[in-house]
Amino acid sequence: MLKKMLLGILAVLVVAFIGFYTYVSLNWNKKYDWPGPALKSSTDSAVIARGNYLVNGPAHCRSCHISSFEDLVASDEGKEVDLKGGIGFPMGPLGTIYTRNLTPDKKTGIGRYSDEQLFRMMRHGIRPDGQASLPLLMPFWNMADDDLVAIVSYLRSLKPVEHSVPENQYTFMGKAVRSLTSTFKPIEKNQAPAVAPPMAATVERGEYLARYVTNCVGCHTSRDLMTYEATGPEFAGGMEFEPWPELHKFMKADPEEWLRTPNITPDPDGALAKFKTPEEFIQRFRLGRVIPHSPMDWGPFSRMSDEDITALWMYLNSLAPVKNEVGAIQFKK
Ligand code: HEC
Ligand code: HEC
Repeated sequence: MLKKMLLGILAVLVVAFIGFYTYVSLNWNKKYDWPGPALKSSTDSAVIARGNYLVNGPAHCRSCHISSFEDLVASDEGKEVDLKGGIGFPMGPLGTIYTRNLTPDKKTGIGRYSDEQLFRMMRHGIRPDGQASLPLLMPFWNMADDDLVAIVSYLRSLKPVEHSVPENQYTFMGKAVRSLTSTFKPIEKNQAPAVAPPMAATVERGEYLARYVTNCVGCHTSRDLMTYEATGPEFAGGMEFEPWPELHKFMKADPEEWLRTPNITPDPDGALAKFKTPEEFIQRFRLGRVIPHSPMDWGPFSRMSDEDITALWMYLNSLAPVKNEVGAIQFKK
């Protein structure tokens, strides 16, 4: 009797596992044929100049779409470095995801893609080949139409560089997470404005940047490290970054050191309170990276205009202060 029951349970488990395995195999790289937004890139020099500011400044594409840590340092120092992609982001047990070549090369870069494919990637997190991406890495889906047009127009104006990037590597666990969680699903609903708030020291401009362009909210909110769902109040800090072995080694940082984001709501004990005036905030941003292995995009952000840094300061100071003792910024587990 007992033996029969155990065999029965085993049979159910085997069937369930085969079902699960089949489901994951069929779904992890499902293609989405959604249309992209009806926007068109331009060759107007003012539009391209605006794209240049965004890509290399607040929208920080330059932090990721480079090919090595040497280029990261050079780029932060203001040197010309090709946006040819290839940095591999380790996602722990899920696998590795590689940034892509954003130069207009026709074989290996965005020269292969239509405007629609590129705008769809930015708005919906669907790769040019139709697979879902990891939208949280590029949370630009509510960026205004005119900013998106400026960005793609600028990228199309760059010198083409031929540089192939490896395809992403997902482990079975990575494929299972891709199939089952919303983290790897395209973004369906957008509320992107047609026109971005003009660059000026206003709370409205600061909110637009902090949420949809610079992504302060993405990192300065505590999140579940597997799903990236927010687990605490926005901008109150506490998100943890585990050591990235290759980066720590390159920067000669302690291989066991984690980092944690500080609270940037206007709480007297938070990090924002250290900057009493917009001028002090501008000074901090001009200084750039202080902790060499920090994931914050200090290089690109150091190139933001005075108006934009002031707008961010004004917006953050307009938030309700949240008490949140995040603990040490640099720590070990
Ligand atoms: C935090 C890192 C990061 C930032 C910042 C970032 N990207 Fe990406 N980007 C990636 C990764 C990783 C991929 C590959 C995604 C995938 O394969 O699912 C990617 C893919 C893309 C693709 C698809 C290209 C292709 O060949 O498949 C485009 C287009 C793109 N990014 C544009 C941009 C632009 C424009 C910006 C700035 C506004 C930007 N990215 C900022 C990490 C980043
Ligand atoms: C990719 C993640 C990430 C993004 C995006 C990000 N930060 Fe940070 N930030 C961090 C981390 C991690 C630290 C702690 C390490 C450090 O100081 O570099 C930090 C530190 C800070 C500090 C403290 C600096 C100091 O000298 O004490 C301030 C202020 C700050 N961030 C503001 C911002 C603002 C404003 C934005 C948006 C414009 C932003 N951050 C975007 C991760 C991020």
